[in-house]
Amino acid sequence: MKLSAERTTLKNVRADVACTFLFEDRRLFEKRMDLLRKTLRYKVEALLEAKDFKGKEDETLVLYTEDKLTARRLMLVGLGEQKKLTLERIRRAAAAAAKRAQGLKLRSLAFEFPEAANLIAVVHESLQDIAQALVEGAVLSLYRFDKYFTEKKEEERTVAKVILFHDDTKRVKEMRQGVYFAQVVTEATYLARDLENAPSNEIYPESLAEAAKQSGKKYGFKVAALEKKEIEKLGMGGLLAVNQGSAKPPRFIILEYGDRNRKLSGTIVLVGKGVTFDTGGISLKPSSNMSEMKMDMSGAAAVIGTFEAAARLKLPVHLVGLIPATENMPSGSAVKPGDIIRHYGGKTSEVDNTDAEGRLILADALAYAERFKPDAVIDLATLTGACVVALGHLATGMMGNDSRLMDQLKIAGEKTYERVWPLPLYDEYEKLIKSEVADVKNLGGKWGGAITAAWFLKKFVRDYKWVHLDIAGTAILEEAQDYAPKGGSGVGVRLLVEFLRNWKM
Ligand code: BES
Ligand code: MN
Ligand code: ZN
Repeated sequence: MKLSAERTTLKNVRADVACTFLFEDRRLFEKRMDLLRKTLRYKVEALLEAKDFKGKEDETLVLYTEDKLTARRLMLVGLGEQKKLTLERIRRAAAAAAKRAQGLKLRSLAFEFPEAANLIAVVHESLQDIAQALVEGAVLSLYRFDKYFTEKKEEERTVAKVILFHDDTKRVKEMRQGVYFAQVVTEATYLARDLENAPSNEIYPESLAEAAKQSGKKYGFKVAALEKKEIEKLGMGGLLAVNQGSAKPPRFIILEYGDRNRKLSGTIVLVGKGVTFDTGGISLKPSSNMSEMKMDMSGAAAVIGTFEAAARLKLPVHLVGLIPATENMPSGSAVKPGDIIRHYGGKTSEVDNTDAEGRLILADALAYAERFKPDAVIDLATLTGACVVALGHLATGMMGNDSRLMDQLKIAGEKTYERVWPLPLYDEYEKLIKSEVADVKNLGGKWGGAITAAWFLKKFVRDYKWVHLDIAGTAILEEAQDYAPKGGSGVGVRLLVEFLRNWKM
């Protein structure tokens, strides 16, 4: 997707459609209509009378400009009430416009930046951030996973160019910064979505490592992938146990960006669950919707996407990424209920249910994270169905041992609208994962499954600040959201980039 910020006007912008935003508040709406009437000498009376467009949220109306504009089409896009305007409303309005343009099979789409002074006052965000949100909404809504269709029909052409424009040079400069950020985070989110949506015969541990390496090579971060022998040598018994039933070997992927001697900005370790397909193993899952479990590596996808964005934006922080990658398969060699395994660092766990595999591989990674003397460790995992029961698809479950770190993520979540919500990690939950034969059991009781899973992880967390993000609901969408289609959402990338941008030790 080609993105740009340009200094031009509604009259002169070159695109298949020029979009302009309107509030529904009567005075603002009429003022805007007046402007259209004057600058374009457009007869708006019929339009006003028909009441087909009132400036309400997500409303769009396409008009033909009869040579009064360089663009052949003018799209009116509703922003709703001015006092309710937020970055998210701007994303959604831009998404509604972009989807409309895509429906018309247009190739290029231009947005007039809404009256700037006004906007900054109501949204309380910088021009740069508003520009970023606008472009994000448009671009993210245009994502499709269509690489496996063999016949690309002419009429399936889609938007390839998005322009943000304004007539003030100084403002365009600020906007350009936002457009660049949007370009980086949307491309990184597209990468995460592509990795998630790719079937398990394309993305498996080796090819996931390869994808990380490719991105690292292109954008300047290091990627190493430990093979089975090295994983054995390290004693990562969780990863090995889960991998036991699979014909495909595991990988332990290590990413590194930035300078480890950069004492000021600190080291952050990001851990991502990389189960490239989760059948449940011997504790086999039911077959309906099992194909969704190709996305059980969404935590890994978010980590890789975040590295790509962080490197491109040159964020001043030292980042380490850890991705235990494996399939979870049933077979004659698979790990079985009752088996006891020894994790990296020596702790043992009893495998009561082979479908609770995520925590087994994350345990190794969390213990391994200590090596890097991290100032914070954040793990992302499609860990439990229980988290989806609790929060649905609209919030990521958050647990951890440091309230300041959780607050920082909460703020980043609100700003990006990749929202996180805390669940309690009370001490009393710990006894639910007590084992009679090992240090810990991988299954809690019937209730509080998202919390007992996090408690299992906590057993392997060392003396560092840690947050666990259960993205089971937010990464895997059963139906489309405003600017995310059904399937992998790429959640975590925008959240973490925003968090890292504001990170202070
Ligand atoms: N990958 C699943 C969790 C999941 C479920 C993610 C639905 C996204 C959508 C995880 O490995 C799993 O199977 N969890 C079990 C744990 C249970 C056996 C304790 C679950 O949630 O049912
Ligand atoms: Mn599972
Ligand atoms: Zn899983």
